[in-house]
Amino acid sequence: METSSCREVASKYVLEIKALILKLLALLSEGLGLDSGYLNEKFGKHNQIQLINYYPPCPDPNLTLGLPGHSDRNGITILLQDEVGGLQVLKDGKWIIVKPEKNAFVVNIADQLPVISNGRFKSVEHRAITNSTSSRISLPTFYGPSLDASIGPANELVSKESPAIYRSYTFGEFFDRFFSQELKGKTVLDHFKYCAE
Ligand code: OGA
Ligand code: NI
Repeated sequence: METSSCREVASKYVLEIKALILKLLALLSEGLGLDSGYLNEKFGKHNQIQLINYYPPCPDPNLTLGLPGHSDRNGITILLQDEVGGLQVLKDGKWIIVKPEKNAFVVNIADQLPVISNGRFKSVEHRAITNSTSSRISLPTFYGPSLDASIGPANELVSKESPAIYRSYTFGEFFDRFFSQELKGKTVLDHFKYCAE
């Protein structure tokens, strides 16, 4: 049997995921009535981060949270979760389990898209819970702006009827704000809203 090194498999994986993300960003751009390259160009030199989350089993899952509620700070996240499950999204004030589907990815809209789309896209609040019997692995790929990229509502989406909800900033500024806070809800995004203070 042919074997591949972890490095080979991982390199291939991140490239394939990038291709998928670029397709999704093109479709999302078009959905906003913008050029297909708009969102990816906004991300500047862009940034792609691959994580592997490992959640060990917890004898009493009520006593811990695998990952507290948050929205991702980047642009778009692709998540591959194993068959154990534990991802939840907040909908109408309730945490709803995202059942693992074989050979399917979860696509999460992250914080930069509500800003660029001037509120048309919403970032999803999500968390991960543990369980008492099985460990769980998930692979999120975070794709978004480079630190020097300038982010703000697309000019095409700002008008008298639809004024800018967020101010412009460099992504580095957003990032600093994110790390100066706990992962509590969407307080980071709120900091960049007009009239937020
Ligand atoms: C994350 C995340 C969810 C999961 O890493 O940002 O939301 O199911 N992970 O592991
Ligand atoms: Ni997340």
